[in-house]
Parts: sequence; C-alpha cells; structure tokens
Amino acid sequence: MAITTDCLVLGSGIAGLTFALSAARHGSVIVVTKRAREDSATAWAQGGVAAVLAADDSVERHVADTLTAGAGLCHDLAVELCVKEGPAAIRQLIDFGVPFSRNEHGELDLGREGGHTARRVAHAGDITGREIERTLLARAAETPNIQLLDWHMGVDLIVLSKFGGPDTCVGAYVLDEKNGVVKRVLARQTVIATGGAGKVYLYTSNPDVATGDGVAMAYRAGAEIANMEFYQFHPTCLHHPQARTFLISEALRGEGAILRHPETREAFMKRHHEMADLAPRDIVARAIDFEMKKSGSDYVLLDITHKPASFVKERFPNIHAECLRYGMDLTERPLPVVPAAHYLCGGITSDLHGRTSLPGLMAIGESACTGLHGANRLASNSLLEGLVLGRRAADKVGVLLPELRQSPWPDVPEWQIGSAVPSDEAVVVTQNWDEIRRLMWNYVGIVRSDSRLRRAARRVALLEEEIREYYWKHLVTRDLLELRNIATVAELIISCAASRRESRGLHSTLDYTATRADLAEDTVCKRGVLPHLRGR
Ligand code: SIN
Repeated sequence: MAITTDCLVLGSGIAGLTFALSAARHGSVIVVTKRAREDSATAWAQGGVAAVLAADDSVERHVADTLTAGAGLCHDLAVELCVKEGPAAIRQLIDFGVPFSRNEHGELDLGREGGHTARRVAHAGDITGREIERTLLARAAETPNIQLLDWHMGVDLIVLSKFGGPDTCVGAYVLDEKNGVVKRVLARQTVIATGGAGKVYLYTSNPDVATGDGVAMAYRAGAEIANMEFYQFHPTCLHHPQARTFLISEALRGEGAILRHPETREAFMKRHHEMADLAPRDIVARAIDFEMKKSGSDYVLLDITHKPASFVKERFPNIHAECLRYGMDLTERPLPVVPAAHYLCGGITSDLHGRTSLPGLMAIGESACTGLHGANRLASNSLLEGLVLGRRAADKVGVLLPELRQSPWPDVPEWQIGSAVPSDEAVVVTQNWDEIRRLMWNYVGIVRSDSRLRRAARRVALLEEEIREYYWKHLVTRDLLELRNIATVAELIISCAASRRESRGLHSTLDYTATRADLAEDTVCKRGVLPHLRGR
C-alpha cells in the first residue's frame, strides 16, 4: 500500500518547516526527517537571520553586501527578493513566538557579522536556530494537516520515467529506520529541504545529519545541480579534541573579537583585508589557512578578552558555557580556532518558487541553489532564504494543487529488495566514509589545485564503484544511504571545482589564481551531463 499526500517534504529544518506550515493551508503535508525532528543544522545556527530592520540600514545596502560577498555570481532577482521579504519573514517569526533578543528600549537587538556593513542580524542570544526550530516544530505539531515522520529517510525519488512515464517526480521511497521497511510515499509535490553536506569533509560545523541526501537524490533522479565547488568554510570552530564541530559564532567578531597569530599575537586580518576581522567569510577562512600553513600551527586565536566579561557572558551565554565545559573561559583567554566546512552554496537549481528542473520536485534551503549566495554566502542570509523560499514555494503549491489533484495516483511498484541481504561488514561503510572525508579535506579544501583535484577524482570514482557494488547486494540502512550520498556529493564538488578555471569566492585554486570576468557564470551539471558554465 502506498502512502499518499499532497506534499512530501524531506527535511525538518527552517525551510522544510516553513514550507510545511504554509502549505498545510492548502492540503496535507508529510514531513520526513531522518533522526529526531529537531536534529537539523537550523537548530545549530548561532548567528541569526539577516534582514533590514534598523533605521540606518537599507535594502540597497543589504543587497550590495550580499552581492559583494557573492563575488559576481549572485542572481540579482533572488537577492532583491530575499532582502525585500526579510523584514516580513522576521515579523512572522515574532508572531509565531520566537524570542528574539531586544535592547533596553524593547527594540530588536541587531548583531553584526562578516561582510555586513550594518547591524542587521536578528538573534535570540547565541541560540537563534534552536529557538526558531523549537517554535516552528511546536506549531507544526499542533497543525492537523502536518504529519511528521521522525527516523525516516528518503532513499530515492520516484520518477515516472523509470517506469515508462514522463519525467516527473511523484514522491519518494522512504526508509523507516525503526523496522528497516522501505515505504512508497506518493505526493502531488515533493520538496527537498534536507540541508547541506558538511559531513563530506573531515572537519565541519554541521550536525551528523548533514550528508547531502537531497542533492544526491535529486542528482540521481536527473535534476540539475549547480555551483557545488562553492563550499563555505566557517573561519572559527573551536580547536579541541573533544569539540571538533563546535562553532564560535562570527557574531563574536561582530562584537569586536580579534583573530590573532598563535605565537606573535599579531592581529593578522589587518594584513589581509580592509574590513579586517569583519571581511567576508571566504577571505577570513583563507587568511587563517594561510597563517596556519605559514607558521605550522594547528590553530589561530580568537580574542575577546578586551570586552567586559559580563557583556560576553550575557551576549554569548551558550558559547561561554560550552567553552567552559572544555576548560576554556573566553572572557579570560583567547580561544584556539580553526576553519571547518560549514555551508553548501550550490545545490539543486531552483527558481524563486522553489521549482527545480524536474517537474513535481521543489528544492528549498541549503540543498537548493537559487542564486542568492553566488560564490560565497553572506553570513546569516541562509535562515533568511529558508524562510522566504519556504513560504514562496508553499504559495506556489497552493496555486498548483487543484490541477494536480485531478490526476489519478500513478501506478508505481513497491520498493524491490531483490536478493539483498543484511549488511554484514559495517567496516566497509566506516572505512569508505573516513577515506572520503579525509581526501576531501586534504585535496578539495580551502585551497585547491588541478593535481589535487585529479587525485581526489580518481579516489572517489574507485570508492563509488565499491559503494555501488556493496549497495546493490545489501539491504538499505541509514549508514549505507548516507555513505552513498556523501560519495555522490564529493564527486559533484570535485567535478564542479575541476571545471572552474579561475579563483572566485569560495573556490580558490593555485593553478588559476585570477578571477576572470568572462567566467562569471554558474557551473551546472546533471546526471550524464558534465559540469559546464552557463550564463544567468
Ligand atoms: C555564525 O554564527 O557565525 C554562523 C552564522 C551563519 O553561518 O550564517
């Protein structure tokens, strides 16, 4: 028996939940989430939501900052739309009950982050994402049209062309992790909101769920993918053996924290950019990488000890408490920090209503590439994009649904297990997983070269072959699906990076150090079509 629904949403972060809450006004929504519902990158977001909210700020300035960070690849329309719709999106979150921080006059307390020329980041202390996620989940739980399926993971999209029909997505095969059964979920509209893929790198600020599942599924289904070479590294994650993924928010630098050389204590960012510690993120991450490689140090220092301890504790209570757990008091001593993979700027190409190149499939949030981020995302623009595009996609579904409901449910087969047997060698999964993450870190990290990319491509091709062989012989498990997806994402990042013969934004290569005006185009690819540049 197939499960049927108007909308199937894969992912329970800010984009997926915003979509679900709006779409529930038009029809039934199933939200599939592969662990507990609150396990999403949204819940880990410390910074906040960027929007024009201050009297001395303007749409033009936010647009200009986004375009500057995006290094010539932002799509103007996507930027204008997200920036213009930002204030209304924040107002809606306030109406929903998100407890944004306020100053003594009761006005929103606005933070500043790298690349922003004004204070415009609405935040809830330093746990903004957690508060947004909690609020949206609470609303979703009390919305009758929304059904949340925790511990369920998309295996593959169902595309009718596989069964002799048109090239249309009509749902997904979904693994119920509790009993290992793969369910057939048919939907009028399928929406990928599975977030990013930080786990493709050895060091990441992302939660374990960030394995690029949506991008990999969409790619296998034939949807167009773009700009995968632009992986953003957050400049400052805590360097500690037990805290490899703990982010130290850029908002600290927004409040005056300074990056220092670990031995000389020099404030080195002044040498790298006129905005010093508040330069766009790609520049700060590359500067740290440069200083670490030059000095042979494993980290640099982030220093906020010159600010009053009471202010730091009040503004960053979570970061302060978390650092104390690791024996570090940031009010007294600078923190050791390193860059780590943070945000996927590319993804499934989608328009300003979330529609992808595959009919029946939408993509929103970090798994989508709308053109907002270009070659480098401006800090705190991503929660904004999730809110704006989540709502716009749902509005479009509201328009499309009456007609979509006229068609009978398609006749597609149940998931076939064939002669697959239970996975017998977990070591194959862990070994391949470790290899991919390490080679991506070493060969496809902050600074790249043709020869490193060639090495990476050869190794990933070999690993993908092994994974494919293992996959078809064994029953699907979450680990195996994630490994398959991460390998696909690695292949896409490498092939997009190898096709870009310049350095731009987050893609920096020793072989082509200049940025070329004639190459200011998106890298697009799809299954069977190699990455190539396409004008906007
Ligand atoms: C941060 O708080 O530094 C992260 C914000 C973001 O990535 O947008």
